[in-house]
Amino acid sequence: MPKIKVHERALAHLSRGLYRSPASALRELVSNAWDANATTVEINTNYPNFFQLSVRDNGDGFSREEFERMMKGGIGNSTKRIDHRHLKFDRPLIGRLGIGMLGIAQICGSFEVRSQPKTGTGFRAKVHLYDGAKSKWDDANSGLLHDATSEVEGGESVPDKIIDIGTYDVWDLDETMSQGTRILTSDVTPTFTQAFQISLKLPNYKNVPLDWKRAVTKVLNSAASLQLLGDYWRLLWELAASCPVPYLAEDALPRGLVREKNEELTKHNFSLIVDGRNLFKPVFLKQNPGGYTVHRFERSTLRVYASHGDDVEAPKSIFRQTSSGRAASCRRCRRAPECAESTFRKRRYKS
Ligand SMILES: Nc1ncnc2c1ncn2[C@@H]1O[C@H](COP(=O)(O)OP(=O)(O)OP(=O)(O)O)[C@@H](O)[C@H]1O
Ligand SMILES: [Mg+2]
Repeated sequence: MPKIKVHERALAHLSRGLYRSPASALRELVSNAWDANATTVEINTNYPNFFQLSVRDNGDGFSREEFERMMKGGIGNSTKRIDHRHLKFDRPLIGRLGIGMLGIAQICGSFEVRSQPKTGTGFRAKVHLYDGAKSKWDDANSGLLHDATSEVEGGESVPDKIIDIGTYDVWDLDETMSQGTRILTSDVTPTFTQAFQISLKLPNYKNVPLDWKRAVTKVLNSAASLQLLGDYWRLLWELAASCPVPYLAEDALPRGLVREKNEELTKHNFSLIVDGRNLFKPVFLKQNPGGYTVHRFERSTLRVYASHGDDVEAPKSIFRQTSSGRAASCRRCRRAPECAESTFRKRRYKS
């Protein structure tokens, strides 16, 4: 089986945890789909078991030759920028290093890639990463490291080192597949599977509604922290926040803060679907113009202590939080909640 070669300088990114969280590893595959002009990427986590993950896009795909060149030529030499690849929908190119795809190594020991470009035969490849290889990557005496040269932007050759991190097998695709790329993990690491399974049993875990807007407004917005909701929620949140998808609405943030950004993101025509949920940036403060708090606190002034009915101008929007978490209303006139003076005055005089 041919060996997978990685340039030492690229390896540093892998072994030093650039792709530390499952979401950051998956985000790399989403970015590749974006760079391949896909309009949709679907991730399936095999919820609630988490034994296998799949990522599928409807992008340009790539050929067996490109795949083999990448594996033999030493991963870590991205040709995307050298090729001056043209992206559709006004998208900026994300890929830079030539290593992102291998970030998935922190979730699984092996994976399968299938790709069908627009013209020509597609390919299927199995990528197997050496057991425990990660611990040997930084060890110069592991026997996996070789001298090499590599070409940098501008065509210059520089001395480099290459390390073998696994093996691969590749075949022509003998089935019909629509244009695009699919990645399917096998050997998902037990730590990943267990952590995600356990996260569904946490006392504060809540089922994730299929409608992502509902998930954000009903659950995420009222959760004390993402930590309490557990790893699965965290994965969805991180992917939604870090991938180039639009906001839930152009007025998801007050004062038109994201309107322009949202127009730009919408123009890029990119959807990310995770376990059947179409993800959008996970913020929605529309019904909440004050920000993250439930109530709006104006600057408090001495007028708060003025007696009811006095000819003193009281700010219209004094929303005071009571122990029950609701804004207080005036006990005398029942006007709520801007007239909270008398209640407050009584309490103050008592003490
Ligand atoms: N979903 C995909 N569709 C089409 N080509 C892909 C896809 N995924 C990977 N490739 C090809 O494999 C190459 C390697 O991808 P990889 O993510 O490792 O590097 P990169 O995107 O070039 O750079 P970076 O490390 O910054 O992500 C890509 O340059 C691209 O040619
Ligand atoms: Mg990439």
